[in-house]
Amino acid sequence: MLKNDQLDQWDRENFFHPSTHLAQHARGESPNRVIKTASGVFIEDRDGNKLLDAFAGLYCVNVGYGRQEIAEAIADQARELAYYHSYVGHGTEASITLAKMILDRAPKNMSKVYFGLGGSDANETNVKLIWYYNNILGRPEKKKIISRWRGYHGSGLVTGSLTGLELFHKKFDLPVEQVIHTEAPYYYRRTDLDQSEEQFVAHCAAELEALIEREGADTIAAFIGEPVLGTGGIVPPPAGYWEAIQAVLKKHDILLVADEVVTGFGRLGSMFGSDHYGIEADIITIAKGLTSAYAPLSGSIVSDKVWKVLEQGTDENGPIGHGWTYSAHPIGAAAGVANLKLIDEMNLVSNAGEVGAYLNATMAEALSGHAHVGDVRGEGMLCAVEFVKDKDSRTFFDAADKIGPQISAKLLEQDKVIARAMPQGDILGFAPPFCLTRAEADQVVAATVRAVEAVLG
Ligand SMILES: Cc1ncc(COP(=O)(O)O)c(C=O)c1O
Repeated sequence: MLKNDQLDQWDRENFFHPSTHLAQHARGESPNRVIKTASGVFIEDRDGNKLLDAFAGLYCVNVGYGRQEIAEAIADQARELAYYHSYVGHGTEASITLAKMILDRAPKNMSKVYFGLGGSDANETNVKLIWYYNNILGRPEKKKIISRWRGYHGSGLVTGSLTGLELFHKKFDLPVEQVIHTEAPYYYRRTDLDQSEEQFVAHCAAELEALIEREGADTIAAFIGEPVLGTGGIVPPPAGYWEAIQAVLKKHDILLVADEVVTGFGRLGSMFGSDHYGIEADIITIAKGLTSAYAPLSGSIVSDKVWKVLEQGTDENGPIGHGWTYSAHPIGAAAGVANLKLIDEMNLVSNAGEVGAYLNATMAEALSGHAHVGDVRGEGMLCAVEFVKDKDSRTFFDAADKIGPQISAKLLEQDKVIARAMPQGDILGFAPPFCLTRAEADQVVAATVRAVEAVLG
């Protein structure tokens, strides 16, 4: 790292970074890395370090870096029409085409897509739509949203509340009172170690039902969940989980929001996580993989059932009072169209499934026997390694030991591979671009073994 150069100084003096230890950064105690260029699964910083990005940015650069097709589409759109709004029925060729492409790929019961900028604002939109929906249906008390502990749904006021991670609540006066949480479907962390997976699923469903009964079903509007828990630890659901949860929700007339910001457009080896696990959502949240992060764009895909009520609402009350200046921004939409085309042309959904399965199998084979590796899990191009102090009793390390962050730092230092130390627990997460090859997967696994051995022996 270059010291005392101007960019470093400007960064520390002027730039308020998200999810950063602000004081340490301002004092120059933590590294800053200035990324300059990237191609495929590799990024390169301004000092010439080439790093294998096994987390695809923030699991978003799904097609890989440096795709000229998307860059050209963005440039062409900017030259032709950089901006026009989408209020009162306005649109662009790119935004209309993208809406059609999304609906062509989405589950059959989906009807329309509302475009936003990022996953957080899309989930804020979803909560507003759900409240509006129940007001139109004459159920003004049915407003609470159930989320899961360890869920991640953004960091706005309501979405930061939906997020079930301590760091995102602490000192922010969150969660707000309309949001309540239920058990995470995290079998490895079950409290009763004697429980089978099947019993654990029954327990999660019973916990949900008990919460609904405590609060009163007539006060609960919706349940939100990621098909695979992401930031909360990369945890695929135990078998039968979604079926059991959906049965409870149906019984109490509670809407289901599938937050597919990470899983949408192929990460699990299926176009949507909803297809993958048989989830019949009323609303689906999309962002990241919609443009592979080449431009900011998100969406709320609403089902026929919800759409009909929204239409009724505007017949009764006039135009919907919701919109962002940048909803359906043409540059984001052009990036989305080019991105979805590229995913098809390069067959990236099936590559995510195949190479993802290979990555998971090789990681499990290489690390399951290690005394401090408690769990290796994943689905498609998502993989996690969880570390424990004692495997037999499943005793976790003290958070203060920062085992996860130490291993990810070692991985970067020794082999220039980026994996993410997940924020709650000693969990190393991998979510590479879908174009990862088997040789690159081997490289990631070998580097991870070396990092684990360097930190834990
Ligand atoms: C499942 C999920 N939902 C929502 C979000 C929030 O998206 P954004 O950071 O674009 O606001 C994220 C971000 O990681 C996410 O993983």
